[in-house]
Amino acid sequence: MTQDIVILAAGKGSRMKSTFSKVLHKVGGIAMVRRVLMTASTLPEAKLHLVVGHQGEQVEANCQDFSANIVWQHDPQGTGDALRRVAPFLQADGATLTLYGDVPLIRASTLEKMTALSTPNTLVLLTISLDNPTGYGRIVRDAQGKVTAIVEQKDASPSQLAITEVNTGILLAPNNHLQTWLAALTNNNAQGEYYLTDVIAMAARDGVDIVTVNPENAAEVAGVNDRVQLAALERELQHQQAIHLMQNGATLLDPSRIDVRGELTTGHDVVIDVNCVFEGKVVLGNGVEIGPNCHLKDCIIGDNTVIKSHTLIDDSQVGESCDIGPFARLRPGTQLSNNAKIGNFVETKKARIGEGSKVNHLSYIGDTDMGANVNVGAGTITCNYDGVNKHLTQVADNVFIGSNTSLVAPVQIAEGATIAAGSTITKQVGEKQLAFARARQTNKDNWPRPVKK
Ligand code: UD1
Ligand code: CA
Repeated sequence: MTQDIVILAAGKGSRMKSTFSKVLHKVGGIAMVRRVLMTASTLPEAKLHLVVGHQGEQVEANCQDFSANIVWQHDPQGTGDALRRVAPFLQADGATLTLYGDVPLIRASTLEKMTALSTPNTLVLLTISLDNPTGYGRIVRDAQGKVTAIVEQKDASPSQLAITEVNTGILLAPNNHLQTWLAALTNNNAQGEYYLTDVIAMAARDGVDIVTVNPENAAEVAGVNDRVQLAALERELQHQQAIHLMQNGATLLDPSRIDVRGELTTGHDVVIDVNCVFEGKVVLGNGVEIGPNCHLKDCIIGDNTVIKSHTLIDDSQVGESCDIGPFARLRPGTQLSNNAKIGNFVETKKARIGEGSKVNHLSYIGDTDMGANVNVGAGTITCNYDGVNKHLTQVADNVFIGSNTSLVAPVQIAEGATIAAGSTITKQVGEKQLAFARARQTNKDNWPRPVKK
């Protein structure tokens, strides 16, 4: 059945005490509403509608890439009111699934269970039983166990308040009926709102089957109203992600001390030590080892590479069997070929480092194209910036650069060349040449040391 998916995101979220829309606050590095849109997008034949109101421009701007139909609800008057605004855009047949921008951990598998039950004469409700149902709409069933209505907390009788099965808010309703029900909603209730939940009683009256589905996991239907709940869902998501990584063959030395803020893909036998943060899209090949306290963002790490503690990698590509860190910083545009070594206190940026090349200590290598088997001595710096423009340093294969060298770009060092330690290289060095570019040492015999006056 074709499907409309409506995501409600018009609410004010005042308990967040934020200048940003509540649904743009992030869980696992991704805005809550974007998580919901991502999950919704996985359902086949889904047409997305996003209902915005408070700080709606922000929400719209942040979700443009989903090309959802943006529906404005300038003065939100309840969940039923929100659906009424979307009604003109709903497809003639098919069904409408309602989701919430502040309920970010809903799973596609649960939504699929719901859509599998959908027919033109069935309404599917996602419900859950809670020890403490306070605040939620209660699921009212008749003697045969059939759902007859949802009653909101503020409208419920004492016996209804004792019901522990509650409405998660997520429901799937056939469009042909839904249009009629939405048109018939009123706001004669304790909150003076148009309740979407009132369609349940109408469905029961119209002889539509009402079936219920439960989520696998309570966090799927947990909403965020304040930063305490946001933090709780963050921990829950991190826990789930850690379990997933371990099930896929990664060893986490402490699953409670890893943070994945985006998408982390791991090969087999990856080992991740404590307190590592992964941001954006990170791919770790088979056998990759990551030491404690590393921060990796948008990077691809080849098989069997070892990244030692306190290393930062951003927007870079690392080959196989490389050795990086401790305390290394690979900035955007770094490309390491296989077996390269980047040691402690080395910073690279827009640098290609060839196979087997080593930059082991205290260096800055920026705007550089370096060949294979190059040895870069401690303290070597590429002077890539003249104050206005950046310039390229080219280092061919098998070059040996002595310690504390300054390579003033633009400059080329040809294959097999050697640079004497302490040189400031401003001119091209030819193949197999030795370049000295420093004051010559002079030794004076029997030099009298200065004496104190
Ligand atoms: C709703 C349900 C309740 C359910 C609970 C689950 C109704 C009437 N009640 O209650 O049965 O147990 O969710 O959390 O549906 N929103 C809009 N526009 C509006 C109103 C709300 O976009 O006009 C959005 C809000 O931003 C929020 C969500 O819809 O994200 C839920 O609205 P809220 O008023 O908080 O519903 P509840 O009272 O919690
Ligand atoms: Ca409400």
